Amino acid sequence: MSRSPKLIIAVALATFAGSVALAGGPQEKIAAKTEAKTEAKTEANAPQRFNIGRAPTVKEIRGWDIDVRPDGQGLPIGKGSVAQGEKLFMDNCASCHGEFGEGAGRWPVLAGGKGSLTSDNPVKTVGSYWPYASTLFDYVRHAMPFGSPQSLKVDEYYALVAYVLYLNDVITDQNFELTDKNLATIRMPNEGGFIMDDRATSEKAFWQKDPCMKNCIAPVKITGRATAVDVTPEDKDGKPRGVE
Ligand code: HEC
Repeated sequence: MSRSPKLIIAVALATFAGSVALAGGPQEKIAAKTEAKTEAKTEANAPQRFNIGRAPTVKEIRGWDIDVRPDGQGLPIGKGSVAQGEKLFMDNCASCHGEFGEGAGRWPVLAGGKGSLTSDNPVKTVGSYWPYASTLFDYVRHAMPFGSPQSLKVDEYYALVAYVLYLNDVITDQNFELTDKNLATIRMPNEGGFIMDDRATSEKAFWQKDPCMKNCIAPVKITGRATAVDVTPEDKDGKPRGVE
């Protein structure tokens, strides 16, 4: 990682501070200006009350704003095939993850484990666990290779993701080319294992306008005492252990 942790914290804080400032309204106006003007303006709008950091520049935000949604939104234009990915994987990933994603030593396993999630020994991998191909693209592009994230080209990330999907039998054709157009059409084996959070409806009965704040349960009836269970370890002479 070439960026220093200090800088990351400063940018993260500044991003937060910046979003507070932008939420106030001038965001759209800013987007319409040229980059240089925008940066000056963002700088000028930076809130002073935290007295830390500074507003991030448009370029800095763009550097971090690389997340991808399951429907493909956020994907950069690019492409890469399974075969290209195999070579890249051997050069950049296999030393830790093994040539077939089996994991070298104690590094994470990337393939296999299908059907193991409900067993006593679940093996969570891209194939057995991850819900969307976009999750894989997003994660690998953000974080790998471990130690030098974001060091590869966009097309190389497409190729690597294609190869990891191939290792998991999600893609079966070696000549398959993964692109920004077809990535969102790929279905992962465990997509159905993730469900939407339905608490707003399924637990609606628990949410009341006037929640009970005192005397909410019937008077407590004591049915037993810990002393009666007699679990305190005793010394040889019958005294509770540790008591003189
Ligand atoms: C130096 C060792 C190393 C190298 C090289 C490396 N990784 Fe990783 N990888 C890791 C570690 C460690 C994690 C777990 C990181 C964590 O959980 O924070 C990981 C996690 C992952 C995961 C998520 C696994 C899961 O199920 O949680 C994927 C996918 C992945 N790496 C892909 C790759 C790809 C593709 C490359 C090559 C571009 C690569 N890695 C290179 C060490 C490495």
